[in-house]
Amino acid sequence: MRLLTGIQPSGDLHIGNYFGSIKQMIDAQEDNDIFAFIANYHAMTTVSDGKRLSELTMRSATDFLALGMDPEKSTFWVQSDVDEVLELYWTLSSFTPMGLLERAHSYKDKVAKGINANHSLFSYPVLMAADILLFRSEIVPVGKDQIQHVEIARDIAIKFNNQYGEIFKLPEFRVDDNVATVPGTDGQKMSKSYGNIINIFEEEKKQLKTIKKIVTEAVPMEEPKEYECCNVYNIAKLFLDEAKQTALQERYSKGGEGHGHFKQYLAEVIWEYYRPYREKREYYASHQDEVRDILKMGAQKARLAASETIEKVRSVTGISY
Ligand code: ADP
Ligand code: TRP
Repeated sequence: MRLLTGIQPSGDLHIGNYFGSIKQMIDAQEDNDIFAFIANYHAMTTVSDGKRLSELTMRSATDFLALGMDPEKSTFWVQSDVDEVLELYWTLSSFTPMGLLERAHSYKDKVAKGINANHSLFSYPVLMAADILLFRSEIVPVGKDQIQHVEIARDIAIKFNNQYGEIFKLPEFRVDDNVATVPGTDGQKMSKSYGNIINIFEEEKKQLKTIKKIVTEAVPMEEPKEYECCNVYNIAKLFLDEAKQTALQERYSKGGEGHGHFKQYLAEVIWEYYRPYREKREYYASHQDEVRDILKMGAQKARLAASETIEKVRSVTGISY
């Protein structure tokens, strides 16, 4: 199966990105054909400082590699290194009804939050459709928030295929139900744009400080506590096997410990979980040329896959003459 995903380099990678998308891709590498890229054109919709965007692009790539992306087995590149995606974006625009984009939740939410609406924010799902369709992706593993974008890609592909024949494969989204929405420190969806994230590779003291900010109920120390709706528990369970989840549930139910204790435990769990990845990250951070080479090699592989689709598209649309 071909699985594809993109991660925007618009901030540091957080544990919502990790469980919602990165981990699913990395775990699937053994048995699938993985296409993963750093969506730097998408990030332009929110990052307008050029230096910062290029730094974040390298940092996200470094983090992705540290977390286990295998550039030999998989295809891993930076979006802007494959020009064909912008060409397809334009072609698909002619198959995208305005109403389809006007209904996009992500666009509507961002506008409601006061982010200035411009054309790139509005047409963002068309570029995402180009990413997905260019590489003939079958499955797109995403967090819940991105489901609609994959559906839009499917709708656009159907419209194009109706006109020109079966050129595009129809993609399907895949959401891991256990981690559909990872809560942030305020209990809302964890998101770079909401300022409620736990960075994967934060410095230890800062990470503990962030974890201490997680919003919890005020319950006296000695009393039993609810774990189901506790943000600390709901983040911790992502890192714990069943036995450890049960043990933590028992600590909540017994009383005698405050949320501060659970937060301390969560900080330790997260720190230990990412320890081996941190070591790998240090390696890549001090070998940035190697990271650049890996990305260039990935772009070459990606272009090869893209050229097959783009040739067909040019031919049926009459762009090649
Ligand atoms: P952000 O909301 O922080 O800007 P992105 O939009 O860059 O994150 O998301 C990258 C990937 O991570 C997407 O597949 C998205 O669905 C997933 N993701 C982001 N936040 C979460 C979350 N809180 N829970 C689950 N998945 C998430
Ligand atoms: N829009 C996605 C996000 O914010 C990132 C992305 C861009 C993507 N292109 C993609 C995800 C293609 C999956 C497939 O998370």
